[in-house]
Amino acid sequence: MALLEVDTIHTYYGKIHALRGISLTVEQGEIVTLIGGNGAGKTTTLKTICGITPAAEGKIHLNGEDITRMRPHEIVARGVIQSPEGRRIFKRMSVQENLIMGAYTRNDQTGIDQDLEFVFTTFPRLKERIAQAGGTLQIDAELVIVKNKFGSLGTIPMQYDQTISTWLERTTH
Ligand SMILES: Nc1ncnc2c1ncn2[C@@H]1O[C@H](COP(=O)(O)OP(=O)(O)OP(=O)(O)O)[C@@H](O)[C@H]1O
Ligand SMILES: [Mg+2]
Repeated sequence: MALLEVDTIHTYYGKIHALRGISLTVEQGEIVTLIGGNGAGKTTTLKTICGITPAAEGKIHLNGEDITRMRPHEIVARGVIQSPEGRRIFKRMSVQENLIMGAYTRNDQTGIDQDLEFVFTTFPRLKERIAQAGGTLQIDAELVIVKNKFGSLGTIPMQYDQTISTWLERTTH
């Protein structure tokens, strides 16, 4: 059984028919990437899986369970987490508080502590900044101009590579 099965979903923003029959499958341990031009529907697909913009038609199953009509918090409770784009963190809360918010559905303190340590090992600079307000993370640079999302990623692909390899190492052992 697939971990996630998205079957022919249609999603609307009012009259705008944003997703027209999207299907995809994610198997356990698999990394799946959505690629498409601006406005193709990548963000909407993720929002629909997470229950933020529910599908008007089609079905979404997680571990065989129908989550199509579930509320976002019910889907989060089943382990589907979305890392928000566009720096959508809690700007006035500290870095540490932002990270702890990510564990608000959990009560296994030892596991939470281990995961925090994993995050700090992967991103050591973050540990130096745990007490800093999340919203101040961006002001290190004098000037950052990013025009092309894909052409100007700089070292981010390397960081992604490192994060994904660390994650793979961790989940496959
Ligand atoms: N809040 C909204 N209200 C109305 N239409 C929207 C809204 N968000 C997205 N759309 C429309 O839905 C379609 C899919 O947009 P979506 O944001 O999912 O694309 P995307 O692939 O994530 O694009 P990008 O690469 O620019 O992030 C587009 O036609 C977009 O204009
Ligand atoms: Mg998008």
